[in-house]
Amino acid sequence: MSTTPGTATVAIAYHSGYGHTAKQAEAVADGAASVPGTVTDLVPLDELTEDVWERLTAADAIVFGAPTYMGSPSWVFKKFAEESVRIWAADLGWRDKIAAGFTNSKAMSGDKLNSLVDLAVFAAQHGMIWVGLDIYPGWAESTASIEDLNRLGSWMGAMAQSDADLSAEKAPPATDLRTAAALGARVAQVTHRHLRGALAA
Ligand SMILES: Cc1cc2nc3c(=O)[nH]c(=O)nc-3n(C[C@H](O)[C@H](O)[C@H](O)COP(=O)(O)O)c2cc1C
Repeated sequence: MSTTPGTATVAIAYHSGYGHTAKQAEAVADGAASVPGTVTDLVPLDELTEDVWERLTAADAIVFGAPTYMGSPSWVFKKFAEESVRIWAADLGWRDKIAAGFTNSKAMSGDKLNSLVDLAVFAAQHGMIWVGLDIYPGWAESTASIEDLNRLGSWMGAMAQSDADLSAEKAPPATDLRTAAALGARVAQVTHRHLRGALAA
């Protein structure tokens, strides 16, 4: 838990092979930081140093993110998930932290839901509290727009789609980054409420 009253720390623990999911991670962080009193910590998972475990354990919320590779989170993320057994074994060291997730892939579906379900089960195994997206699916009516929030229609977490021939400078598109930011803001708001409740109890 945060040591400073009124402050919440939201960590974003993510992997990105080619930079696209990293853009999504930054958008989640920007959204969380837009909520007053929120400190964000972007934590890449490429190297699992002690610093990574300490920063995640210090956070009040962890938003997990990975690209969808072969229909599930990338192996770098899965390696992190398996190595997190050290936290799990120490009396559920991440128990009651707020959790959420995001993923990005090249296809509109690309089986991204499977990745988000994987992230949610992972959070549940740690005794964490999963927060989904609270935005009605966008781009789902004849008058709707590709610019709508949640254009890919996910409740489990934030999805993004990156055209395979575009660099991370150009993809995922702004519409998906806005959706990622909305998830970050929601996580921050819920985390503040959760911390206030813990203080009152
Ligand atoms: C090994 C591998 C497997 C992939 N599998 C999928 C997949 O199952 N579905 C999909 O839509 N895209 C798939 N992709 C495309 C990536 O999800 C996409 O390029 C994404 O933007 C990569 O994000 P990153 O730059 O953060 O690594 C795959 C890419 C790689 C390298």
